[in-house]
Amino acid sequence: MDLGKLIAKGSEAEIYSNEDKIIKFRNRKDYRIKEIDEALRKERNRREARMLKKAREIGLPVPNVIKEEKDYFIMEKIDGKKAESSIETAKHIGEALAKLHNNGIIHGDLTPYNMIIRKNKYHIIDFGLSFFSNRIEDRADDLLTSYYSLREHEKTLFSSYEKNSKDGKEVVKRMEKIKGRVRYANDKGC
Ligand SMILES: Nc1ncnc2c1ncn2[C@@H]1O[C@H](COP(=O)(O)OP(=O)(O)O)[C@@H](O)[C@H]1O
Ligand SMILES: [Mg+2]
Repeated sequence: MDLGKLIAKGSEAEIYSNEDKIIKFRNRKDYRIKEIDEALRKERNRREARMLKKAREIGLPVPNVIKEEKDYFIMEKIDGKKAESSIETAKHIGEALAKLHNNGIIHGDLTPYNMIIRKNKYHIIDFGLSFFSNRIEDRADDLLTSYYSLREHEKTLFSSYEKNSKDGKEVVKRMEKIKGRVRYANDKGC
């Protein structure tokens, strides 16, 4: 199969662009035992495609999954520009994160790098680290990851999250606690 043009290469996956489609292909890892490697790639690939579909079902703008195979899936290409750290992005990330959490989904890496703006709509990509959970702790970790990429807009991020999330206050409180612990550890040079 002609995968198209390689446009990104992460530790987990290679991204190919082919006309109006994107192919996310999970790399073989030679340091893993072959059977384990195959099972892992298959599981992660399947999970990411499933999460994208789920996010779409709850009405979030994510790429449409077109085809799913063992170690790759094909999705709609979002032709737009990468979001950057701005008030507008912080507002959208807070909203999107709240909606995902309200539906039991943890994204795992919702930063401006994983948002593409097309026709003023903020699309969410990269569900490679996502999973299902309703735990406050997991939501707080998720929010903290977004915070680290949007530090200068934390007020906007947190207020947007709180406004839209069912347990917003509790999650923000927990996140502040984790954030404090991380800072304390860093100050002590741990
Ligand atoms: N559906 C898509 N439409 C347009 N570009 C995409 C799409 N999916 C991925 N990309 C591009 O490929 C890059 C890497 O994809 P991503 O899913 O974030 O992989 P990784 O897990 O390696 O971060 C993105 O930052 C983006 O530039
Ligand atoms: Mg990414």
